[in-house]
Amino acid sequence: MPTPPPQNPLSIERYRRHASRYDASAGRTMALRRRTIGLLRLQQGQVVLDAGAGTGLSYALLREAVGPQGQVLAFEQSPDMFALAQARVRREGWANIWQINGSAETVQLPRTADAVLFNYTHDICRSPAAVANVLRQVRTGGRVALAGMKFFPWWTGPLNLLVWLKNRPYSLGAADLWEPWRVVAQHCDDFEWTSTQWGMGYIACGVKKDSAA
Ligand SMILES: C[S@@+](CC[C@H](N)C(=O)[O-])C[C@H]1O[C@@H](n2cnc3c(N)ncnc32)[C@H](O)[C@@H]1O
Repeated sequence: MPTPPPQNPLSIERYRRHASRYDASAGRTMALRRRTIGLLRLQQGQVVLDAGAGTGLSYALLREAVGPQGQVLAFEQSPDMFALAQARVRREGWANIWQINGSAETVQLPRTADAVLFNYTHDICRSPAAVANVLRQVRTGGRVALAGMKFFPWWTGPLNLLVWLKNRPYSLGAADLWEPWRVVAQHCDDFEWTSTQWGMGYIACGVKKDSAA
């Protein structure tokens, strides 16, 4: 199995400090999460992947969308975030969730996914190796949805300092927020994005294109 890139231990260390407070801080973005998951247009019985699933805050919504015959697959590289996701699944008694403590660059899913969610996973979305490994495990034609932070237009100047500060605790590539969807978009057809949160956020979706074409 290939070794994860050296920045990953830094991210793991960062989330070691954030994990216990994560759900309280991410709770504010539940409406956006719901909207992003809606872009996946999930159907009952489908298999959906939650990439960089964190503490599993999307699991309930994803399960509801794929129903009892469907399955949620998830991976998360931070052991501290993953432990909270495991506790959530145990507490809720959810049976149709497969999850693993692993990185996007190396994860091997047990089956091909019909759709994939990248919710606030900037470090994954900006890594060509991570995105390629994840998307090769999503079927051609499968829906891809992502959300996260982005810079305001360049002419707003100092406002981007605010975006940078807000994003810094969660992402190593905090300075790279001009088109954070770009790597994922390269793997998709019909890709579109729109601004959220007065311009400092985005949601986007596309359809995984045929890699052989
Ligand atoms: C801001 S959190 C978002 C968590 C979750 N997607 C959510 O919506 O609440 C970003 C997550 O991505 C994870 N992450 C970052 N780089 C990763 C990588 N290369 N492989 C797997 N997970 C990664 C972090 O550990 C963290 O839990």
